[in-house]
This record gives sequence, structure tokens and C-alpha cells, in this order.
Amino acid sequence: MMRAPATDLPVRLDDASFAVGTVTIIDRMTLTFAPGAPTLVIGPNGAGKTTLLRLAMGLAAPTSGTVTFGGRERGPPLRRAFVFQRPVMLRRSVAANLRYALSAAGMPRRQHDGRIAELLALVGLTGIGDRPARRLSGGEQQRLALARALAREPEILFLDEPTASLDPAATKAVEDIVAQVAARGIKVVMSTHDLAKAKRLAGDIVLIHRGRVVETGPAEEFFAAPKTDAARRFIAGELLI
Ligand SMILES: Nc1ncnc2c1ncn2[C@@H]1O[C@H](COP(=O)(O)OP(=O)(O)OP(=O)(O)O)[C@@H](O)[C@H]1O
Ligand SMILES: [Mg+2]
Repeated sequence: MMRAPATDLPVRLDDASFAVGTVTIIDRMTLTFAPGAPTLVIGPNGAGKTTLLRLAMGLAAPTSGTVTFGGRERGPPLRRAFVFQRPVMLRRSVAANLRYALSAAGMPRRQHDGRIAELLALVGLTGIGDRPARRLSGGEQQRLALARALAREPEILFLDEPTASLDPAATKAVEDIVAQVAARGIKVVMSTHDLAKAKRLAGDIVLIHRGRVVETGPAEEFFAAPKTDAARRFIAGELLI
């Protein structure tokens, strides 16, 4: 019998909670991340965005409820990748950082140089493969982090506030790459507390607050006609408490 190739999609949280001691950080969330336009996870500082992304990536396990990847509850992150807000690069060249990721993804060595060139082109870093990765600017490092995440050819890419510490030009460069990646069919799940960024890239919106899902929906509807009072207030720039 033929077996279908393993896929990590959809990523599904079913009544998933994450608690540390007596503190509930993610409170019974039910959500599905399926192929399609980017999902933007928004909410104020401390809402639980990073923790939600870590659960959906499989970096943390729910303390109750389930998180499944293509219907499986465990297993290696086959086709998932994660970019942290402050990515850490190896103390080696830009190209060596990508080479390391390609080896980890099991790509044969003879294919590395070609793929590295492709990845550098995709993130606009052609020509600086020999530079020490840790000497790159913040924006360049974030683009290298994207290239490194894409090295494993993910089906789903989690981005945790990838432009939080970048200036407008560097932010635009990263957002352009994210849009391009999404257009290639990779599911993007990105967190931000910045509404303007969410508007530019979504797709659909998941508004969370205090570890709970407040409202979800297509971005156009969410911004034009929010259904909940909390969403209305968040869009109006009011504090959610
Ligand atoms: N391992 C942990 N132990 C205890 N508390 C934690 C842990 N991880 C997260 N928290 C707490 O859970 C809450 C949610 O944290 P999280 O980092 O997910 O929020 P966030 O929405 O990403 O915030 P920000 O916008 O500031 O990045 C915070 O109050 C945080 O201090
Ligand atoms: Mg966070």
C-alpha cells in the first residue's frame, strides 16, 4: 500500500493550554493553521504570542489539550521552521551558517553551493556570503535568519516579531521577503503587537489576550468590522487590560 508523504499541516491546537506552575499562559486555545495566506497573531505585550508560536512549532508541549501536526501528536519538526525575534548566528561566515542548516536538513554536500546562492539571492544578501554572520546589521541578520529557516524547505514558517527591532527600511525588506515566501505557498504564522504590520501581511488575524483567543477572522473583516469589544478597542489603540 502506498503511504501518503508526511506533512506537518495543518497544525491544530485543540483545547490546548500551557501552564507553568499555577500560572496559565495559554488558556484552552483551539486554532488551526492551514495552507493559505499569512496568519498574523496579534495582541499586547505578554498576551502569550511567543508561547503560542512555540506550542505550534512543537518547541513546547501543551500541559493539557493537544497540538497536532498533520494529524500526528509527536514526531520531529519535519517541515516546520521558526525565526526568533533575536536570532543567534554561528560565529562563522554567512555561507557557513546556511551550510550548517542545509547539512542539518540532510541535503547532500554537492548541492550546498547552489542552494546557498539561491537562498542569499532570495533574501537580498548575494555577495556577502564570506562575511562573519555576527557582524551583519540587525536587518541583515534577520534576513539571514529567514534564509536559514527556509533552508529546510518548510511548509510552515513561524516568525516571532521578526521586525520588532528594525527600522522602517529594514522592516520593509523583511516584510517583502515574507510576502514572497507566502506567495510561494509556504504557510506563514507571524506574531506582532503592531497593527500596521499585521494589516500589511495578513491573511487572517488571531487576536489573543491573556492567553486566550479573543477573535479570529479574515484581516479585512477583522479591521473593518471587529465583532468583539476587545478587538474594537485594540484596533482603536486602547490598552487591553
Ligand atoms: N516559562 C515561563 N515561565 C513563567 N512565565 C512565563 C514563561 N513563559 C512565558 N511566561 C509569561 O507568560 C506571559 C506570556 O508570555 P509571552 O512571551 O508568550 O507573551 P508575548 O505575547 O510574546 O509578549 P511580548 O509581546 O512581550 O513578546 C508573560 O506574562 C510571560 O512572562
Ligand atoms: Mg513575544
